[in-house]
Amino acid sequence: MSPVYEKLMKCYESIKSKVDFEPQVALILGSGLGNYGEKIKIVHTLDYHEIEGFPVSTVQGHKGQFIFGYIGDVRVVCMQGRVHYYEGYEMSDVVLPTRLMKLMGAKVLFLTNAAGGVLQGMKPGDLMLIKDQIASFVPSPLIGENIEELGTRFPDMSHIYDEDLQQIVKKVAALNDIQIKEGVYLQFTGPQYESPSEVAMSRLLGAGAVGMSTACEAIAANHMGMKIVGISLISNLASGISPIPLTHSEIQDSAKEAEPKFQKLVTDTIIEIGRIFKEEL
Ligand code: HPA
Repeated sequence: MSPVYEKLMKCYESIKSKVDFEPQVALILGSGLGNYGEKIKIVHTLDYHEIEGFPVSTVQGHKGQFIFGYIGDVRVVCMQGRVHYYEGYEMSDVVLPTRLMKLMGAKVLFLTNAAGGVLQGMKPGDLMLIKDQIASFVPSPLIGENIEELGTRFPDMSHIYDEDLQQIVKKVAALNDIQIKEGVYLQFTGPQYESPSEVAMSRLLGAGAVGMSTACEAIAANHMGMKIVGISLISNLASGISPIPLTHSEIQDSAKEAEPKFQKLVTDTIIEIGRIFKEEL
């Protein structure tokens, strides 16, 4: 058995021995969005430290726990805090939690993040529906021996973000009068923010937002056949567009501001996913 798969199965067994809950939807909360946990009717919480071999985040503002519970009548597992490649973890560790949530039963992955806005006209506090991604600046989480139990060696990535789920987000946004932009998310390794020239390059490549997470998780989830939806909270204008130097606390502040509309959009989208895909989840 590959060491990556062995570690994954160990974590899975550890969770199974502690929590009896089969989620339908997995939700990963980005920087500053951790408060969304309050919206969940909680059945269990599981601190990442309690899971043997689980990678634990060191970033300020990131809590480290799984929340199991309900949004409406949809069973969700929510990650309050993710790990990032820049923390020094192997990519296989960065995506281990995503893979675990699929093993627990989740068929849909809802990805969220705080990101730097690159599109013309974006402002802090905007939301961007992720249409596609550029992951070419980070190592693939699928490098190494393919884990056949999870997926195929050369997975297709032509529709990473599910078209039906995108339509649901847009419908929910319109119903609630929430403005939402659409664009391509580009992942860099970080931890440094981009230089103005890197932001100019990102725009040239077609990116709408840049960040340090998400795309690798989407690759691992797509490899395993999950339906994926993603929303970026534009916490700042990317460097070179922004007139002021970027700080992590600025990013947490704009997350706070956008919190109500973000929470409404996530909640109603998950409820609608539960309604429309009842049979499949
Ligand atoms: N760049 C990269 N990652 C980020 C940014 C940014 O401007 N904002 C929040 N995460």
